[in-house]
Amino acid sequence: MPAYAVIGAQWGDEGKGKVIDALAESVEYVVRFSGGNNAGHTVINEQGKFSLHLVPSGIFWPQVSCVIGNGVVIDPGVLLEEISGLQNRGVDTSKLYISDRAHVIMPYHVLLDNLEEKAKGGLALGTTGKGVGPAYVDKAARIGIRVGDLLEIDNKDRFFNRFHSVLEQKNTIITKVYGGDPISSDKLIEQCHEWAKGLAQYVQPTEMILQSALEKGSRILLEGAQGTLLDIDHGTYPYVTSSSPAIGGACTGTGIPPKSIKGVAGVFKAYCTRVGTGPLVTELSDTIGETIRELAWEYGTTTGRARRIGWFDAIAARYSSLVNGYTSLILTRLDVLDGISPIKICTGYRLDGKTITYFPTNSETLERCEPIYENIPGWQEPTASVKDLAKLPDGALNYIKRLESFIGVPIHMISTGPNRDETIMIKNIIS
Ligand code: GDP
Ligand code: IMO
Ligand code: MG
Repeated sequence: MPAYAVIGAQWGDEGKGKVIDALAESVEYVVRFSGGNNAGHTVINEQGKFSLHLVPSGIFWPQVSCVIGNGVVIDPGVLLEEISGLQNRGVDTSKLYISDRAHVIMPYHVLLDNLEEKAKGGLALGTTGKGVGPAYVDKAARIGIRVGDLLEIDNKDRFFNRFHSVLEQKNTIITKVYGGDPISSDKLIEQCHEWAKGLAQYVQPTEMILQSALEKGSRILLEGAQGTLLDIDHGTYPYVTSSSPAIGGACTGTGIPPKSIKGVAGVFKAYCTRVGTGPLVTELSDTIGETIRELAWEYGTTTGRARRIGWFDAIAARYSSLVNGYTSLILTRLDVLDGISPIKICTGYRLDGKTITYFPTNSETLERCEPIYENIPGWQEPTASVKDLAKLPDGALNYIKRLESFIGVPIHMISTGPNRDETIMIKNIIS
């Protein structure tokens, strides 16, 4: 009856798509539980290369049902396009289910996301501009429109009246606060009709589907989006996303109880990246950072923005492990470090002349921290595409051991390339 969670352990883009696609071979369900199309999950397998934004990365396996859980915010236009894009490439989407409790990202959310960012000027967060933050704001303010409401578009109480009162409020803000153009209610209603028609066949009370799957003994993989250090509670606030990518979100975002989650795997890149604003203590502004960015093509899957690069931050990693209770670690992009020497691991921060080994709460404090590094000799032999632990060079094995000992959790899976099969399984994560 177990569920297993795969959590982004840093600032997102750790390679969760690749990992989920590889692990999904052994499960019957893959479930997205948080975020929206701010996520970009890359999957490369025999069927091709895919950038998924809302559809779970287990969609390529015939035995897998994919669920977009209640914790996700859905831009219906983006989702419908993603589904038809997959279908056009021969991917079967008939076992895709969308929670009727998931909230809808409306065009006014997208517009407000961008207007708010522009108005913040130098204080902008660098959001993906997809309307994710404003949609979660409305969810918390209890004025959101859920997928189930959208399907009841002609029901006056459930959709129509609420829609009009919210749109009026949003248009007031758009025009009076930001000087933007209002959104036409007629056009939007027409669009909502189309969305409702397109989505209807996929919409279900997915918590019931997942409960009965658990009762039947099916295995469920919970696909994290974003990363723990972008979590609204546990991340580097305010430079965070508006959802709960850490393990707590896996329960609230699906309706699966904590007791059903048997394993929590944290996905770490072999170094750090971050897109958007906010502290990154180990950030590299030298040629090594640039080399890694170009070598590993560290550009956003969703926005194409250059990702900021840093050495592995073991202080942040230990904190990430603390709030998630990882039972396994998954290390990705080890191959990117091939030929780089020395490799640095940040094992402490220098703050106001003192050494600290905890992750400070305040982003302002974190910005003032300087990294204290341990140098690890690199390796010259390639790790790219290696599938067997014994075939890794000694230098890489040593690096892996140092990371395990700093974080205090064993690494059970290593990714040595973007393809599904470029993977070393040290211990089964799903049993
Ligand atoms: P996600 O958001 O966590 O799913 O990660 P993204 O897909 O946004 O970014 C990860 C990038 O790394 C993608 O381009 C993947 O194809 C690529 N990738 C994943 N694992 C590996 C790996 O082990 N080695 C290399 N070289 N690339 C990888
Ligand atoms: P995946 O699932 C990396 C970042 C944005 C910005 C901040 C807030 O692919 O790992 P938002 O649009 O969510 O309000 O932006 O969060 N961000 C991500 N960074 N990977 C992601 O998703 C991200 N989703 C959001 O860059 O700094
Ligand atoms: Mg990504």
